[in-house]
Amino acid sequence: MKKMKSKFAEKFNHDLQADNYDDEVRDEENPIREGYQNILLWIKSAMPKSGIAIELGCGTGNTTKVIPNTLKKIICVDVSSEMIRVAKKKIKDKKIIFVKDDLLSFLHSYEKKDIDVIVSMYAIHHLTQKEKHKLFQAAYDILKDKGKIIFADLMFKDRRYKKEMIKKYPNLAEDFQAEFLWFIDEESDKLRNLGFIVKEKRFSDLSWVIYGEKKEKE
Ligand SMILES: C[S@@+](CC[C@H](N)C(=O)[O-])C[C@H]1O[C@@H](n2cnc3c(N)ncnc32)[C@H](O)[C@@H]1O
Repeated sequence: MKKMKSKFAEKFNHDLQADNYDDEVRDEENPIREGYQNILLWIKSAMPKSGIAIELGCGTGNTTKVIPNTLKKIICVDVSSEMIRVAKKKIKDKKIIFVKDDLLSFLHSYEKKDIDVIVSMYAIHHLTQKEKHKLFQAAYDILKDKGKIIFADLMFKDRRYKKEMIKKYPNLAEDFQAEFLWFIDEESDKLRNLGFIVKEKRFSDLSWVIYGEKKEKE
């Protein structure tokens, strides 16, 4: 099978941020971080309590920690060995397997269809829009019927909203250009067309969750 790697995996590898990352995310005065703790609480309540989970871009394990430990297996993927090192210090649970890999490449080469939930927080915006759509397809292919997706990330409602946010947060304009924040309308459409039932939830101007499940085959 052709290896499908995301183009900017090394650019967005967080090796150098690993030691300070957990301090940085506590600063919710920063609009990029606003909503972080509330999203974690929400993910905790929304996660299925059994089955197999994949977490994409697990970083230092803050989301991993809220995944119920009643699950059978949790596979956490990140391109950064340093972020994984910090996560491993915080989390000791034999059910949790950390994998250093590009998240698109990992999902695309996963061969079974036994996944109950794919969760990701603040990571998929490092993929271009085209790559996101490839990731959605790969997610669809490996999830069981009624399998769940929980994608928390930095998002714009639509392209007009992006312009509003650039005006509101001019200091972030460069970040908005360098990264690939989601367009909720376009990405949700893509997911629906693939066969997911999806909803959106807002946590701050920039932090949203797109979540839902794979429709059962008729
Ligand atoms: C902003 S951090 C989020 C970490 C964690 N999910 C959280 O919410 O605290 C983004 C993480 O995604 C990882 N990452 C970025 N691009 C990636 C890719 N293409 N494949 C795998 N991991 C990637 C980075 O190394 C980093 O750990």
